[in-house]
Amino acid sequence: MKGFHQWWLRAYGWTGLAAGLLGIAAVRADFQGSTHLMPYDEDTLGYGKTADTSAIARLQERIDRGEVTLRKDGRFGYLLSILDELKVPKASQMLVFSKTSFQRERIGPANPRALYYNEGVYVGYVPGSHILEFTGVDPKLGAVFYTLDQEVAGKPKFVRTDNCTECHASARTMGVPGHLVRSFQTDDNGMVDLLTGVDPVNHRTALADRWGGWYVTGHHGGQTHRGNLVGKAAFAKQEKEPNHLGNLTDLARFFDPAKYPVPTSDIVALMVLEHQQHGHNFITRVGYEARVHLSAYGHVNYLRNAVDSIVKYLLFVDEVPLTDEIRGNPEFTRQFEKLGRCDSKGRSLRQLDLKTRMFRYPCSFLIQGEAFAGLPEPLRQRIYQRLHDVLTGKDTAETWKRLTPEVRREILEILLETQPDLPPTWKS
Ligand code: HEC
Repeated sequence: MKGFHQWWLRAYGWTGLAAGLLGIAAVRADFQGSTHLMPYDEDTLGYGKTADTSAIARLQERIDRGEVTLRKDGRFGYLLSILDELKVPKASQMLVFSKTSFQRERIGPANPRALYYNEGVYVGYVPGSHILEFTGVDPKLGAVFYTLDQEVAGKPKFVRTDNCTECHASARTMGVPGHLVRSFQTDDNGMVDLLTGVDPVNHRTALADRWGGWYVTGHHGGQTHRGNLVGKAAFAKQEKEPNHLGNLTDLARFFDPAKYPVPTSDIVALMVLEHQQHGHNFITRVGYEARVHLSAYGHVNYLRNAVDSIVKYLLFVDEVPLTDEIRGNPEFTRQFEKLGRCDSKGRSLRQLDLKTRMFRYPCSFLIQGEAFAGLPEPLRQRIYQRLHDVLTGKDTAETWKRLTPEVRREILEILLETQPDLPPTWKS
């Protein structure tokens, strides 16, 4: 196995190099085959013809039934009212200025795109554009895409569209309809230098490689990153003066903050987003795999690697360690943590640490969300089984050595009290 691993790494390195020369950033695979495009529109999976049950679909139903009327204001259109109805905190705002998404002509360093999210939905807003963008999280389908045209007469309507999968279903989203976060060096206008791309960005990505093309507010001590750097000169200066434009709390030198509901592009919101979006893609991918396997073989026994790999992700096994404390907008942290399910000692999986690692108890809060709950039962049982093996110390492999016996015990205790659908073997 070790030989295979080394071979794979070497092969990956060369593929990466070849891809780099061709101008395509290499994408790290989570398990063998995990970046291959899945036949998501074919019969077993039926992406396009299956009804969406995400928070967006549910809000549209409430609008249709007359239970909700969205309010429009002169500055942000329907944005604030929609964030309110979807319970998405304004403090989750993050600003991206690279010309990487479908409204790229309107996006740039002086007019960044704003993104907002919670666990059920991601929202995109570009000042000056009448189109709002949304991805809903559906337990079966994965990401489901919508636009809302603010200039259409009459009641505003979320319109489901599959055009977005051109970018949002590829090797970069684990081959399923999913979410994207990337990091590039850009020129003065926000055009990306493809050779500098990092994909995918999540809790395993070194901070030094993150946030190229993004604004970042908050403190991170001596740790460096690529955020707030616009154009070659800024990157060159950062080489000589590490943290030139790091540890910023005010972005007014780059653009007019009054164009946005809040003035921040919060570092903690970014870090949680990066963990969450790849986690959502991962859950969608293994869910799709499980449905294909159940329909072909009636079992999921062949998905061992995928199960091991998602358990590693959920337990933050390859998380980059923090070397200085991260301090962001306290409002985001408050809103994020308050949704945690607490055990009798007041502990929850949403408690942040931000001193040496992201979370106080490194087991993903996503395990308590709708996407995870919607995984096919036999697969969820497998994941719970592997998790139990690791947390109880039955699995003694090197892989898990970063989880101290104390951390394992704490996570086990929290899950036993706050995770309702654990298999009976956990209780004995
Ligand atoms: C040209 C490629 C491209 C197309 C087409 C595209 N996107 Fe994206 N999208 C991106 C990239 C890249 C990101 C990551 C953030 C960024 O760079 O702006 C992203 C991020 C997002 C996000 C925030 C996080 C996430 O990934 O869920 C939303 C919401 C979103 N897009 C919605 C849409 C919708 C809705 C459509 C179709 C109407 C769409 N996008 C079409 C490239 C694209």
